[in-house]
Amino acid sequence: MALLEWSDDLSVGYGPIDEQHKKLIDLFNDLDAAIGSGQAVDVIGGFLEELIDYTAWHFRSEERLMEAHGYPDALAHKVQHVDLTEQAEDLQQRFLDGDHDLADTLVPFLKDWLTNHIMQVDKQLGAFLAAKAA
Ligand SMILES: [Fe+2]
Ligand SMILES: [Fe+2]
Repeated sequence: MALLEWSDDLSVGYGPIDEQHKKLIDLFNDLDAAIGSGQAVDVIGGFLEELIDYTAWHFRSEERLMEAHGYPDALAHKVQHVDLTEQAEDLQQRFLDGDHDLADTLVPFLKDWLTNHIMQVDKQLGAFLAAKAA
């Protein structure tokens, strides 16, 4: 069973961002499943890298939308992206350095962060973009 399930509660009301969030959740669940089934460290590391790479791409995509549409809260939103990226990369580095128990830290951290960020700041952005598109 997937740790994080997509539901309409997570929709930000703007289709292109929802599609990226669904992909992000899929990648997160792949990582969690790999950890849960005791996959080799390099396999887990590969899933982790894929998730972090896609997250970086997704953040840039949201930031381009904010710039293109003159979103007033762009700076505060971007600060959250930078903050998550730094924390995730720090955890990834510690994992690569051999601290493999981080699976217990990393998965709950990412789950909470993704959920909170989507439910709060991404929903505000989605509502703004949906209103612009209307
Ligand atoms: Fe965001
Ligand atoms: Fe997002």
